[in-house]
Formats: sequence, structure tokens, C-alpha cells
Amino acid sequence: MSATPSPLSIAVLVSGTGRGSNLGALIDACAHGEIHGKIVLVIGTRRDAPALERADAAGVPVAVVSPRQYADDEEGYANALLRLLDRSQVDLICLAGYLRKLPAKVVTAYAGRILNIHPSLLPLFGGQGMYGLHVHQAVLESGMKVSGCTVHFVDEHYDTGPIVIQTPVPVLDNDTPETLAARILPEEHRAYVRAVQLFAAGRLRIDGRRVRILPETQAAQSADELEIAAYQEPTVSERRKP
Ligand code: GRF
Repeated sequence: MSATPSPLSIAVLVSGTGRGSNLGALIDACAHGEIHGKIVLVIGTRRDAPALERADAAGVPVAVVSPRQYADDEEGYANALLRLLDRSQVDLICLAGYLRKLPAKVVTAYAGRILNIHPSLLPLFGGQGMYGLHVHQAVLESGMKVSGCTVHFVDEHYDTGPIVIQTPVPVLDNDTPETLAARILPEEHRAYVRAVQLFAAGRLRIDGRRVRILPETQAAQSADELEIAAYQEPTVSERRKP
């Protein structure tokens, strides 16, 4: 079949007072046709997050689900997220500055269809508490000469899912956490846009821990094939039936 798949419906999740620069990169890439998709929903945890203002300015629907309202009720939090995601018929969830662990129920429901961006070369400098300047501080303390960013599929743990794209960035002798973060950020934007582009084109195939990037000619052509291509995920057994 050679029909062009319909545009991907993308939801972006941010938490806290996220500034939303990766969200902005994805919005722009969709608007310019670099990604065959549309951001249909941004979910935040606080209404005053700059990321949500960015979404508002771009005319993207926003929703707020405050995890505080669901203290000790992960299932309730998961259900609130799933209601919104399902209602918007989301094909792909992009975490962009979402610092919480996504509830397992959401990970299972959208297995193989959730991406995250992390500002280091995973599996180094990931895990709980490794966010923002903490990551870059740890890189400098380690003496590493190279850092970078990683786009990966999301599993039930922090920063451990199959890696899609990594971009190395040199660590300079006079770097501070701030200068290193600033040098990595534009690479994050490029890597995230590229990863979502490839997902939208049906060119990502999860093969155990590895993600194969299919040549253009082998890309999945229909929406169904596209889901299947992104779904070769042996570590997650259950799939949500649409
Ligand atoms: C980025 O550094 C990303 O790697 C991490 O959180 C930060 C979000 O930045 N997960 P922004 O809100 O996209 O500007």
C-alpha cells in the first residue's frame, strides 16, 4: 500500500514550571511540515508553566492535571491522563520536561508510543533526580569529555527505555553546568524533531533494547502498519485496544 499515513496526533506532557523549548521546537516542526503531525494537546501539572503559555500562543489545546490532587492515588492520576489522551485520539506522547514518573498504567496503554528527551548520553546520568542542571553538574564532576542528549522510548522506569537518537556534545574545559546545558539544548531540539519525524514516518522499529531506524523505502505506510512498526516491544506485553 502506498497511501500517505494521516498526520500523527501528538500530545506533549510537561511538568512544574517547564519553559517548553522542546515543545516549541515540536510545534514549529509540525507547523513547517518537517513532522507529518500535529500537536493536539499539551498536558501540564501547573497552569502557570511557561510551556503552557507557549502552547496557548500557538493555539494548541492545553489541559492541567495536578498530581497533587491525586496524592496516593496513582490510578486516579493515570485515569485522568488517559481520559484526556484518549479523547484527543493521541498517537504519540512526547515527554518534554516532564520530570515525574509516568504512571505504569499510561505506559502500558501507550507502550511503544511514548518518547522522552533527556539532556545526557543515557544510560549515563539518568534516573530519579537527574534533571536540569543536576545532570550537567554530574557530568562535569565525572570528568567526562563528552555529553549530549538522548531521545528514547519510555518504559516503567526513569530514563531506561530503548534509545532512538543520541547526539554527542563536547564538554569544554571552562564549562559550567549552565554553559553545557545551553550548548546541549539546541541539539535536544534537533534530536527530538528528528525522532518524532521518524516515528511519524513509521521508520522506528523497537527490537529488544535497540531501536532500528528503517530506510525510507521500508517505512510503514498505513496508520495500522505504523503502530505495528513502532510496537515491536517484547518488554511490554499488554497493548491498549483502541
Ligand atoms: C530538557 O533539558 C529536557 O532534556 C529535559 O527537560 C528539559 C526541558 O526543557 N527532559 P524545555 O522545557 O523543553 O525547555
